[in-house]
Amino acid sequence: MYQFPKDFLWGAATSAPQSEGAALLDGKSPSTWDKWFEMEPELFYDGVGPKDTSNTYYCYKEDVANMKAMHLNSFRTSIAWTRLLPDGKTLNRKAVRFYRNYFTELIENGIEPIVNLFHFDMPWWLMEKGGWEARESVEHFAYYARVAFEQFGDLVKKWATFNEPLVHIECGYFGNAHWPKVRDFKRALQVGYHTLLAHAKAVAEYRKSIHGDGKIAIILNLSPVYAKSEAKADQEAAQWADLLYIRSFLDVAVYGRFPKELVTLLKEADLLPVTAQNDKEIFANNTVDFLGCNYYQPLRVQAPKNAHYPISEPRDLFNGYDWPQKRINPHRGWEIYPTGLYDIAMRLKNSYQNIPWFVSENGMGVSDEERFTNSEGVIEDTYRIAFIKEHLIALQRAINDGSPCFGYHLWTFADCWSWLNAYKNRYGYYRVELDDHFKRTPKSSSFWMADVILNNGFNH
Ligand code: BG6
Repeated sequence: MYQFPKDFLWGAATSAPQSEGAALLDGKSPSTWDKWFEMEPELFYDGVGPKDTSNTYYCYKEDVANMKAMHLNSFRTSIAWTRLLPDGKTLNRKAVRFYRNYFTELIENGIEPIVNLFHFDMPWWLMEKGGWEARESVEHFAYYARVAFEQFGDLVKKWATFNEPLVHIECGYFGNAHWPKVRDFKRALQVGYHTLLAHAKAVAEYRKSIHGDGKIAIILNLSPVYAKSEAKADQEAAQWADLLYIRSFLDVAVYGRFPKELVTLLKEADLLPVTAQNDKEIFANNTVDFLGCNYYQPLRVQAPKNAHYPISEPRDLFNGYDWPQKRINPHRGWEIYPTGLYDIAMRLKNSYQNIPWFVSENGMGVSDEERFTNSEGVIEDTYRIAFIKEHLIALQRAINDGSPCFGYHLWTFADCWSWLNAYKNRYGYYRVELDDHFKRTPKSSSFWMADVILNNGFNH
């Protein structure tokens, strides 16, 4: 029997921009996603944009009832900044009502809300002023955080500031999957710096808040980094990837400072971001109470030819080599490697002060999932059950070895919209039918998971 600790949090995660819908209704202003879709709808899979997400703005009660039927005891979503403060200053009463109703519904059904503030959805009005590149975004975010804590802090006792800050930096400033889709390493570093400063300021706001008696976290995508070989060059490449992708976030969140090696390398290359005098103190005084770890797949690294650090095209580290033992999810192309979850769990225990943490996302995206529908109309997602099982086994081993993990959230509860991929890959315990009024139907994994939760564990 794979048994989990008492009071383990079993849940699922989503985000406001990927699930709510009502993208420009009831006072909500556009985020970068709403505007980008307006400008280039053809870039979004099947032309499905951010207004056609899973409709939870209207049917959250149905979702909560389904969560209850599955025995979930926790659930993460985010607040849309552009809904709560459409112009950055004015409180939208309709948003307050919606989120209070949503969180209350969860609580009344025995499901703890875990609420995140930023899930890649930059307000358009702020993007026009430079987005995270502009120092003023830090103050705007701190104000938004303060308002969110004031309005919902009596209901919500577990908060997160950012979801995967690496992603909006990487995809927006050294890739082209997020707005403003530029390729500029120096700008990316400034964006990263301001994001982390905004995180620390939001933590400070929480500790000052009248409702600040709960806990606050950041959610990081902690994909463990593995070098291709023992060769010095590959080892160095892996160290650089780890420094940039993992430690620059984890060290700030847990220790309140950037890794020395990173600062030295950036200084030598004249790439240090612009900072202000008291920033160091802000970072140092505002470390997190707990962490969320999103884990999908590891990073396999090999040294690019003639590598010179810092590498300002970080994606070069991951290109061009095939890991021979790789098991690939054929439906999404991502590697399946449950041991990676064990490794990161033990790293948090051993190198990060035994910080309490939970799996805030793990999951398996599958395209054209309707082809697995059985004669009773249920999607038999046995591949997802196998995926979750393997990851839970790795997680349970880490917990037995002392890693202080207190929960597991699947991405996601009901299929939700995903950025440029829209509904290409489905992740949910529940199917959402876009052509049938967003109708929800449970997949096999939801029945399997309900049993796991009831028993707080499972047999083989
Ligand atoms: C996580 C994000 O990185 O992965 C989610 O927090 C995202 O927003 C999820 O949807 C799955 O990735 P994708 O690209 O397949 O939707």
